[in-house]
Amino acid sequence: MKIFIDTAKLSEIEEAISWGIVDGVTTNPSLIKKAVNFYKEKGEIFSMGEYIERLLSVCGDRPVSLEVISSDFKSMVREGKFLYERFNSINDNVVIKIPVSPSMKEEDGEEFDGLKAIKKLSDDGIPVNATLIMTPNQALLAAKAGARYISPFAGRIDDYLRKSIGITFEKGDYFPGEGLSVNEILIEDDGVVSGVDLVARSVDIIETYGFECEVIAASVRNRVQVIELLETGVHIATIPFHVLKDMIGHEKTLEGMKKFTEDVVPEYKDLFK
Ligand code: E4P
Repeated sequence: MKIFIDTAKLSEIEEAISWGIVDGVTTNPSLIKKAVNFYKEKGEIFSMGEYIERLLSVCGDRPVSLEVISSDFKSMVREGKFLYERFNSINDNVVIKIPVSPSMKEEDGEEFDGLKAIKKLSDDGIPVNATLIMTPNQALLAAKAGARYISPFAGRIDDYLRKSIGITFEKGDYFPGEGLSVNEILIEDDGVVSGVDLVARSVDIIETYGFECEVIAASVRNRVQVIELLETGVHIATIPFHVLKDMIGHEKTLEGMKKFTEDVVPEYKDLFK
């Protein structure tokens, strides 16, 4: 499984890359807002163009997803082309993130501008990451439209399922991949029982029908969810910095290191002199 880091903070990207485990980076407008506010607070003001250039340079040749900010077909295509044409020459690693099927109107969830933009940009040779995938149907449609990547949002589906029956939770709380039953009724959304299940079904669709597309497990919330995602065979997980950090530790590893260090005999130590 490839690991992408889900952040727009340069320091987090640089640090995670230094660990040797980062294959790519995903951003979105909310992550960019957090990063920009962080740098503004530190008094480091730079233009958005300069910031994206720095972001892409830090990432080397790893794919970096940059998201459009509009929701109508023409603007998404224009913004996607603009981002690609302006920044891809830096490291040939820009991927354009397009929401799968946005509708900004609550009463109408059936706009197809996202799909049409995915199709147009993909046909023009621009790699697209279809984002905000919440159903297996959206995964299928985005793959058919030619997306290079599709991003089912595991954590947000878990949130949705919990909210649907009034369970309160914190953002990082564990939600079981096999689903949750309340009063012997399994909570589900058109048969999807968890975010991990949505990812598993998306992988299944891509592989069963042989789409040339990789699934990115997105909206990852904690280290246990990462283990469950691994078991789905997902191609990529995009993981926030704090979750990545949380994946490395275990008290028994620390205990073992302490004991091994204590037990080093002088002869062994001398070997390294
Ligand atoms: C994916 O590419 C998104 O940037 C991200 O995973 C969203 O995660 P969130 O639901 O924690 O905001």
